[in-house]
Amino acid sequence: MVPTYGRLLAAACALATTANAVVPIEVDGKDFVNSENGDRFQVLGVDYQPGGTSAVNNQTDPLSERDDCLRDAALMQQLGVNTIRIYNLSPTLNHDECVSIFNAAGIYMILDVNSPLYPGYIDRTAPWETYTRDYYTQVFGIIEAFKDYPNTLAFFAGNEVINEDSVEQVPQYMRAVQRDMKEYIANHLDRPIPVGYSAADIRPILEDTLNYFMCEDEDYPTSHSDFFGLNSYSWCGDATYETSGYDDLTDMVSDSTIPVFFSEYGCNEVQPRQFTEVQAIYGTEMTQSFSGGLVYEYTQEENDYGLVKLNDNGTITLLVDFENLQNQYAELDMDRISASNATQTSARPVTCSPDLIQNSTFSTNFTLPAKPPGVQRLIDDGYDEVNAGQLVDVESEDIPQTVYNHRGEEVTGVRLNVLASGQSNEPGNSTSGSGSGSSSDSDSDSDDGGNAAGILSVPFGLLTATLLAFFML
Ligand SMILES: *[C@@H]1O[C@H](CO)[C@@H](O)[C@H](O)[C@H]1NC(C)=O
Ligand SMILES: *[C@@H]1O[C@H](CO)[C@@H](O)[C@H](O)[C@H]1NC(C)=O
Ligand SMILES: *[C@@H]1O[C@H](CO)[C@@H](O)[C@H](O)[C@H]1NC(C)=O
Ligand SMILES: *[C@@H]1O[C@H](CO)[C@@H](O)[C@H](O)[C@H]1NC(C)=O
Ligand SMILES: *[C@@H]1O[C@H](CO)[C@@H](O)[C@H](O)[C@H]1NC(C)=O
Ligand SMILES: *[C@@H]1O[C@H](CO)[C@@H](O)[C@H](O)[C@H]1NC(C)=O
Repeated sequence: MVPTYGRLLAAACALATTANAVVPIEVDGKDFVNSENGDRFQVLGVDYQPGGTSAVNNQTDPLSERDDCLRDAALMQQLGVNTIRIYNLSPTLNHDECVSIFNAAGIYMILDVNSPLYPGYIDRTAPWETYTRDYYTQVFGIIEAFKDYPNTLAFFAGNEVINEDSVEQVPQYMRAVQRDMKEYIANHLDRPIPVGYSAADIRPILEDTLNYFMCEDEDYPTSHSDFFGLNSYSWCGDATYETSGYDDLTDMVSDSTIPVFFSEYGCNEVQPRQFTEVQAIYGTEMTQSFSGGLVYEYTQEENDYGLVKLNDNGTITLLVDFENLQNQYAELDMDRISASNATQTSARPVTCSPDLIQNSTFSTNFTLPAKPPGVQRLIDDGYDEVNAGQLVDVESEDIPQTVYNHRGEEVTGVRLNVLASGQSNEPGNSTSGSGSGSSSDSDSDSDDGGNAAGILSVPFGLLTATLLAFFML
């Protein structure tokens, strides 16, 4: 327990350095909103895991290297994003400089609390064995590490843990993890940072997954998701709203009572990617159901989804996908998007019941597993290996690395643009560097589109599963 004067001191120190903090985001019905002015917040984001999961260890993670974060935050400002999602972090490292850089850039963070390293994950083949007190040293460690940053937008309790083969037991365990995380948050955090689940786009069980996580249960009042993330790769190449199956997704999500967004999108079957789906995702139809999305992914890795390539000699190349996405973002009408809301009349929480579940393979059991021994005590007393971060001054706005565009030309003048207090980044806010905004292919209604809904690839989940298989050998 922190004595009162400790809290006061911490608050005073925080004040000295948060002059240009972003405003925390909160959930209001189906929307994410700015907690000060109530404006709707739509996720314009990228998934950010340079080097992949295997690059995370005791010494380094995506938010531990200041110069890398400075480079990436400055480039992401030019790209036009306001949010990053990070899959794997180490709770013991110091993240202050990186998080402060992203905060200054007006960029929020959605953080997965799990780790691919034992004991930091729920094993979908035997959840009862990995749902332990030791598991929570990772989960509560991440919550503690990030709870005091204003740009921590949300936590993911799990990513694609449920698949066709784990529909029976895993849903209960994931709700149990949400229950425990939200009890911990209620006891130890100053604000209710939202907790949700990130689902694979497995259409036969997708609606059941959403319904299972979203419904409220009076026996476990903290166990429902505060929001829902969907990893979907059904819009490939020059697809349309219909051929991509986005129309079905929009229908499915229209009755949701919580915010829903794409936690991964950006099919790479047709290259280079034009990202025509951006106009659909932020268009008038879909914004009534969805709260935006995150493009998979910022850096080029083996699975070939990158927007930028980190070169071996320490330079960085903006791939053509970067420019294509930047051009799509630049066409968005941000005034309309932040003035919109999805808080429709029927958005009343639904009570959990087996009737909500359609597919007979999916769990209808809403009785949650009991907390493992020792976990209630952590929830009551707090996790004592606290490594709570706080904002620090951003000391440099100049990025040391050389940047090339996809034509191999050097891009000069890339700097971090420190935004005024309360601002989040928007397309077009960055004054520095390249990015000519000539747009050619904005028409998302054009022709056949080679790929219909149902062609699914789940790169990060696959990667995680592979790694897990490896670690479980
Ligand atoms: C991390 O550090 C701890 C303590 O120093 C050590 O026990 C553990 O094995 C390390 N883990 C990795 C993955 O290096
Ligand atoms: C139920 O879900 C499974 C996948 O988990 C799928 O193979 C099956 O077709 C679904 N059944 C129905 C009736 O949708
Ligand atoms: C660094 O590597 C990139 C990619 O291989 C290359 O285009 C660039 O010329 C190199 N720059 C320097 C300074 O060596
Ligand atoms: C949108 O939000 C405004 C202000 O909160 C509210 O007055 C209006 O009814 C909402 N519109 C819809 C369609 O819910
Ligand atoms: C439902 O889940 C609980 C907790 O895991 C378990 O004890 C119970 O046996 C399950 N009920 C059924 C009908 O499977
Ligand atoms: C960012 O762009 C928006 C829309 O053009 C504008 O309203 C806002 O003031 C800009 N913010 C900054 C810090 O430039």
